Formats: sequence, C-alpha cells, structure tokens
Amino acid sequence: MINVENLDDANNFIEIKDNYVFFWGLDISSKKFRINALIRELMKKYDITEDEVIEISDDDTYQFYKEVYENNPTTKKENLKRKKTKYIQVLKQIRALIADETDLIANLANICAALKYGMNGFFWVGFYFVKGGDLVLGPYQGPPACTRIKIPQGVCGACAQKKETIIVPDVDKFPGHIACSSHSKSEIVVPLIEDGKVWGVLDVDSDEYDKFDEVDKKYLEEICGIVAKSP
Ligand code: SME
Repeated sequence: MINVENLDDANNFIEIKDNYVFFWGLDISSKKFRINALIRELMKKYDITEDEVIEISDDDTYQFYKEVYENNPTTKKENLKRKKTKYIQVLKQIRALIADETDLIANLANICAALKYGMNGFFWVGFYFVKGGDLVLGPYQGPPACTRIKIPQGVCGACAQKKETIIVPDVDKFPGHIACSSHSKSEIVVPLIEDGKVWGVLDVDSDEYDKFDEVDKKYLEEICGIVAKSP
C-alpha cells in the first residue's frame, strides 16, 4: 500500500511515500529534535517507525528519496502530466517570442531562457552550430560550457552525425560523453535540420539521472522544427 501525502507546515516540507516520512529540516539540530508533533502524528497514522523517518539533508538521502518517489506509480503519472502541461506552455511562449523576429541568435537565446526557466530540472540548455567538421557553442543558459566539439565526438557530435535525437539517461555510461560540468547527469540532444542537412543541435542537460524521455523528445523536436535557420 502506497501513501502519498504532501503537507507544508510552514517550516518543513513533509512527504509520506511507501511507508517513509521524508522531511526537509531547516536548522542544524539533531533529527530527533526535528521530529516535531506533525511528523509524530503522521508516524502514528501510517504506522511508521523512527527508522522510517528520513531527513533530506545530503545527496545520499535525497537520492534515496528520489528512488522511492520515482518508483511510485501515482507520482510518476502526475509528473508526466505536469511535464506535458509545462511543455505546452513553454511552446506557446516560444511561438510568441519568435513570431515577429527573424534574427536567429535572438530567437535561440530566448528559446534557451524559456526552456531553462519554464521546465523543471533543466540544468543547462543551449545550441551548438555546425561549422566545418565542428560544433561551435551558440546561445545557452547555464554554467560555462565546452566551446568546440568535433563531430562525431560526445553526445552532441553523435547527434549531429546520426541526424537523430539522442537520450542519455546516465552520461557516465555514454562512451565518449564530454563532461562540461560534473553536475550533469543525464542529457538529450536534438538535431536542427534544414533541407536534410544538420546545421546545429539543441543540447539539454539535467543534474538528475534519467530526466529525459519520449515526452521531452516530442516537444524539443517540435521546438527545433519551428526554428528557421534562415529568415
Ligand atoms: N555533454 C555534451 C557536451 C556539451 S555540454 O554538456 C554543454 C556532449 O557529450 O556532447
């Protein structure tokens, strides 16, 4: 039996999932101190012991929370729905932003910002342009990135060569992945194609594993499809 309950008691965000209480504490005192009345009430209600109370305070506990969260079919379905809704909004915003502008750099810059700030967990969003046998960094949002990538190196280079979208759930498992940031855990790269030729790629990185799926592919390809290289 899976219970999901979200509560906000002003100081802590508390979630009950798969018979665990997860909470985000705000101070540095001991966990025992922070198991407040509300948590005790929930523990009683769901028959949860102290060992099953997990404080999200570091990467390990957050990773554990995510595993429980992601294995929960209810939240999985809700997340997918939420992601689709966000893409529909972002796509609408992008169409409006680029409608009256023919300057490619201006439009790509706005697309990066719309995606980075409109979607959840997009750590780096940016374009690379095909120049000779290389991919050269274009407009982006996020930390500084590799300036030049030789085709077919990395995920971007492989995408440009194959002329197809590549989804990488775990960047460490992709042979030849180019790590511009150690925070990047998963990635999707979509080609920009005109007259059958790849002239660039859109690269989106997440600091979470397995962030991208067929929904991202569908909408990001749609976005790349409305970008015109030449006015
Ligand atoms: N990881 C990419 C390089 C670009 S950065 O992630 C921004 C790759 O392997 O092609």
